[in-house]
Amino acid sequence: MTMEGRARPERAWWKEAIVYQIYPRSFFDASGDGVGDLAGVLAKLDYLQALGVDAVWLSPIYRSPGADHGYDVSDYREIDPQFGTMADFERLVREADARGIRLVLDLVVNHTSDEHPWFYASRQGIVPYRDFYIWRTGKNGGLPNRWRSVFGGPAWTYVPERNAYYLHLFSPKQPDLNWDLPAVRQEVYRLMRFWLEKGVAGFRMDVINAIGKPELDDETDAVGFERVINHPKAFRYLEEMYEAVLKGADLLTVGETPGVTPEHAWRYAALGRGPLGMIFPFEHMTVDIGATKWEPAPFDVVRWKRVLFRWQTKLEGRAWPALYLGNHDQPRPVSRFGDDGEYRVAAAKLLAALLLLQKGTPFVYQGEEIGMTNVRFPSIDDYRDIETLNFYREGRERGVAEETLMAAIHRMSRDNARTPMQWSAGKNAGFTSGTPWIRVNPNYREINVEAAWADPESVLHFYRALIALRKRVPALVYGRLVPLCPDDPAVIAFLREDEAGPWLVALNLSPVPTTWPLPRPIAGRPMVRVLDNRHRPPAYWDPATPIPVAWGDGEAAAFAEVGGGKAAGGPEIGAPGERPPERGGHGAGPSTFAGEGRRETPVGAAGPDGKQTAADVRRGSWEVERPEAFRLGPYEARVYRMAPPGHRRRRPGEGDG
Ligand code: GLC
Repeated sequence: MTMEGRARPERAWWKEAIVYQIYPRSFFDASGDGVGDLAGVLAKLDYLQALGVDAVWLSPIYRSPGADHGYDVSDYREIDPQFGTMADFERLVREADARGIRLVLDLVVNHTSDEHPWFYASRQGIVPYRDFYIWRTGKNGGLPNRWRSVFGGPAWTYVPERNAYYLHLFSPKQPDLNWDLPAVRQEVYRLMRFWLEKGVAGFRMDVINAIGKPELDDETDAVGFERVINHPKAFRYLEEMYEAVLKGADLLTVGETPGVTPEHAWRYAALGRGPLGMIFPFEHMTVDIGATKWEPAPFDVVRWKRVLFRWQTKLEGRAWPALYLGNHDQPRPVSRFGDDGEYRVAAAKLLAALLLLQKGTPFVYQGEEIGMTNVRFPSIDDYRDIETLNFYREGRERGVAEETLMAAIHRMSRDNARTPMQWSAGKNAGFTSGTPWIRVNPNYREINVEAAWADPESVLHFYRALIALRKRVPALVYGRLVPLCPDDPAVIAFLREDEAGPWLVALNLSPVPTTWPLPRPIAGRPMVRVLDNRHRPPAYWDPATPIPVAWGDGEAAAFAEVGGGKAAGGPEIGAPGERPPERGGHGAGPSTFAGEGRRETPVGAAGPDGKQTAADVRRGSWEVERPEAFRLGPYEARVYRMAPPGHRRRRPGEGDG
């Protein structure tokens, strides 16, 4: 099999990082007012460190009237009082840094709040803010065009003082900034520098592919956002932002970019050349919806995996992928793509393996690591999200039945992801001592961090094992992904491979057992099972737990621990012997793989069922399998280290090579 043909992709901390997204209002409330806060994040840093998180993306924490829960900013340089103070933020940066965790902020600059001072000045026509937003006069006594906003209703709102309409792709409380005005762009660059000086390690950029607006004489009756995205001007402004702010800084940058194709990634996030480090794809979030997100379409594994694999192969060597299955805008992945009933635990682990073992930087959304599920609040009064509330109101106005609307809301509402993080079986799931701003999911008594931590077979410890494994094995970060069995209706399988040979990931994304005949040339090849979701995961976070990274003598494979060591007779892998700089500070060097050198694992007997428990692995007992087919149970997930292609049994006395 071919290895990375072209130059080895450049290593970077943010390519090796596990990013954890926090939606601060719903994470942990330290003050007791019912809303999560920065002190709450601070209180949970040890938890994040134990999980193996390298960076935290905070959803917006700036001052905001909260029409879209912080995605409507009224002061970019202030912390919203609900979340705390600037001193809390500075402390959070320091304390996170001390744990090797970097902070990434949400940059919401396609629009501001209508309560931002710029907008107050703009609506009164005060220079220099007059043209900070996009103003148009009406046409034939009506709106400037027929665009609708993402959250329902027209994309234009009339302001009598100016006798004009302003454009808002989202709610009327979120007027779009006019990026064509150089002064607007300079303001954005300045506020970015402000936060960089406070020690943030990068930005997630909200709907950043919408900042370049086309001519607005479009006559179509459409969601305005869809007519705007990916205009060449967006790319041009990002290039300018790169030159002005990002260049030379060792930052994580990821654009939120609905409606993009892999070809867009080649431009926005071209390896080593693009203005951004990564962009978030959306195509894999569209396979189970119809014309709008509220209309269901049957979830089809083949279709989904085609999308995932196409992104992987098209980005190979051209752009670094950003991986996610859920966030604050999407339903919970285990409910959406897996099973939140009988097979919840297995399905959540399977999805974790899919998220963390593809090539790219994985973004774990809060609660995914314990397999949190969608919620089914009985009444619309329990919902808080502006998009959900507008959808319900408009539906009722059009006479749509209550049950129909509630069914769509249960399936797709953004509040599915925004119920409070479930910390314990105690009151309010341990989220707050007050009244939570949104109700907790009633399943918190069963699904919570405390219970998961106590159970070695929990989703949480599986995440820990996967994260640790990925951190110790360069192939799982930088190795190319080779898709397998594209037409199998249930199995998602792929290889990750580099010079040290392939890893095999096989996932049965279905509630029925299935047999997967391994394709040639993989069938019958020696391999060992490193992780699966049916047994207690090995403690890969413990450096004393060995990982088979290279093959030694024939069947009785002896494995060396990862980290640049050379196994007896095995190929060299990992970073060259040098120890990378300590993590913690920013600019801590490009790569974070440990380089401790070699440690050989004793060879032991295989366990009776050939599966490794943590204790077995510590003893180094690996059973070599040569499977022709896998019999995979419901939502079963397996990860194997395979012998490299040239591997053969060596006779005693034969040298290396
Ligand atoms: C992005 C955010 C979403 C927000 C919207 C408008 O899509 O993720 O939460 O509502 O932008 O800012």
